[in-house]
Amino acid sequence: RILRISEVLRGDAALGSTVTVQGWVRTRRDSKAGMSFVAVHDGSCFATLQVVAKPDLANYADEVAHLTTGCSVSVTGTVVESKGKGQAVELQATEVSVLGWVEDPDTYPAAAKQHTFEYLREIAHLRPRTNTFGAVTRVRHCLAMAVHRFFDSRGFFWIHTPIITANDAEGAGAMFRVSTLDLANLPRTPDGAVDHSQDFFGREAHLTVSGQLNVETYCMAMSKVYTFGPTFRAENSNTARHLAEFWMVEPEIAFADLAADADLAEDFLKYLFRAVLDERADDLAFFAERIDPGCIERLETFVESSFERMDYTDAIEALQRSGKSFEFPVSWGADLQSEHERYLTEELVGRPVVVMNYPREIKAFYMRANDDGRTVAAMDVLAPGIGEIIGGSQREERLDVLDARLDEMGLNKDDYWWYRDLRRYGTVPHAGFGLGFERTIVYATGMANIRDVIPFPRTPRNADF
Ligand code: 4AD
Ligand code: MG
Repeated sequence: RILRISEVLRGDAALGSTVTVQGWVRTRRDSKAGMSFVAVHDGSCFATLQVVAKPDLANYADEVAHLTTGCSVSVTGTVVESKGKGQAVELQATEVSVLGWVEDPDTYPAAAKQHTFEYLREIAHLRPRTNTFGAVTRVRHCLAMAVHRFFDSRGFFWIHTPIITANDAEGAGAMFRVSTLDLANLPRTPDGAVDHSQDFFGREAHLTVSGQLNVETYCMAMSKVYTFGPTFRAENSNTARHLAEFWMVEPEIAFADLAADADLAEDFLKYLFRAVLDERADDLAFFAERIDPGCIERLETFVESSFERMDYTDAIEALQRSGKSFEFPVSWGADLQSEHERYLTEELVGRPVVVMNYPREIKAFYMRANDDGRTVAAMDVLAPGIGEIIGGSQREERLDVLDARLDEMGLNKDDYWWYRDLRRYGTVPHAGFGLGFERTIVYATGMANIRDVIPFPRTPRNADF
């Protein structure tokens, strides 16, 4: 019977039964009594399975005694109670087959020792074998599954929005181009035909910065929808919280206003972190021990707390009253910088904060204009320790107001013809938000750098693999 290591360790196989596990060697240690203890991992859980190999195995001297970190093995043995601490059971090997040797153990890049995260980024193909990246990967998976469970259980439909698009959803000009810059002088193939690999069939095309505009179209038919996929930003931001390619979760709800949007965001975030606490206790224990001592307590506090709701205008006043000297000036009309966000959520309130109703000048064209004439129904959810994790808004559903806004911002109405149609045919109040998926993982794990919570980070300096 072939079992995952998680299944063996949680007791799926009775003591005394024979099972086979398959995985990779993390370490091998030999006892004075002449046997070997081989720790094997297969990704299924944080713990390794201790395999006890005795010299009476046929290939003990030739093979087992030479196993090194990274070798792949298939081990059959008897499940026995473990006398060692930290594990209930171990495997008394009756057969160890080596599937793949490590060519030169002395130069194996992911040898079992402490590596810096900077170094591990250079071996992105091997870092999933380390215990840290195994843990990150399981937490990432757990969160992704929780995203779908949350929305599915509430009657939302998952909409697969496109990656290649002509529209700049945020109107911020941060799109990577798919087409060449000079569509009039396209490169030719040797036989004289236009080389469409470089122009996307003669059109302007970009990588999406957000699925929002597309998902709004389905919201105007399905009522509750979400998109969850990769998004791209051509901002040259070399920070620990920015990626050029990141995943975003974007729900959109019809017949809803900003208050309903904020309520959804609060329920959603708490659901996600509850799932990690419930399902990945093993990985969280590791993060608490080795990466960020406060991470479990932070998640527990988060899921118990109620989010503060605060108007942008009140947030500015609170920042001005704080008596703190910020690097970036605080004045009504300026965007909140991460130092401001951290003051609000960590020092002033001590809980997650939803900042609402931002000045219209600093926000995207699609956000609904408030009656005061100077703010829009926008919200950002700020979390202690990380700052902005969600950005969202109620959308402008009135065609005349939307048109005036597009004009004012110098955006071409024709480019948004289908988006405007939604306001022409059966428009309804609606709202939505975007959750940065990697920032969510950073928050859950305490990992310091966003590049270490996505398998293959894309940043201004990193696009190998
Ligand atoms: O605030 P943003 O730009 O909002 C939107 O894109 C809206 N269209 C969302 C919507 O209403 N449907 O981005 C949303 C979130 C941010 O709060 C942040 O968590 C994350 O996406 N984010 C990034 N994460 C990693 N790297 C980057 N470069 C990011 N830019 C935004
Ligand atoms: Mg934002």
